[in-house]
Amino acid sequence: GDVAVLVPAAGAGVRLGPGRPKALRLLAGEPLLVHAVRRLAAAGSVHTIVVAAPAAEVDAVRELLAPVAPVTVVPGGAERQASVAAALAAVPPGPEIVLVHDAARALTPPELVEAVAAAVRAGRHAVIPVLPVVDTIKEVGAEEVVLGTVDRSALRAVQTPQGFRRSVLTAAHAAAGGALTDDAGLVEKQGVPVFCVPGSEYALKITRPFDLALAEHLLANAG
Ligand code: CTP
Ligand code: MG
Repeated sequence: GDVAVLVPAAGAGVRLGPGRPKALRLLAGEPLLVHAVRRLAAAGSVHTIVVAAPAAEVDAVRELLAPVAPVTVVPGGAERQASVAAALAAVPPGPEIVLVHDAARALTPPELVEAVAAAVRAGRHAVIPVLPVVDTIKEVGAEEVVLGTVDRSALRAVQTPQGFRRSVLTAAHAAAGGALTDDAGLVEKQGVPVFCVPGSEYALKITRPFDLALAEHLLANAG
């Protein structure tokens, strides 16, 4: 395996509602993070996994993941970007391909992990999985007045794992200014081209209660 995966898992999960940090919330009886790490470990290219856990849960997360896969667990930060940076700093020398994958995308298939890694291995500096946008998108101004309709054909919804040549991600994080919601955004700011590969509906980000219910249903019907 030539791939390290950073797993930001330090978020609170405010949009999921009151409860434990989101990565530790249960899906089919197991924490979201366990589902996510199990699928990452099932991807043959993955050599190293570094999890950024809620600071108060580092020991608990170590114990939780020990039977699942060999992982390094570090305390995350207040923003997702800080959590990714903390995990990146803990990657040992070796892997030249680094993926960043949200713990909240708990049902992401190992095949998608391999597809992103393969595109980086083939020479892309930065690779993101995307899906077409299915809804009509409108720009809205003050008092919910529609300003216009956006051309949907040029838009993509972006998932993780996002894959990078290690040096590219390291440089982008070192230069990072304002906080962004994804790592490819930092790389774009460096002027590095970012390429899209087809994403997966199973890589949905569990954000709201509806998403958790959907994920329960998908697992229950997976056979
Ligand atoms: N994340 C993180 N560190 C943070 C914030 C987020 O590692 N300070 C992680 C989350 O654990 C999640 C991923 O980044 O796996 C995507 O973030 P999101 O879906 O927004 O999760 P939360 O921030 O936990 O949710 P919310 O925004 O609803 O509080
Ligand atoms: Mg968040």
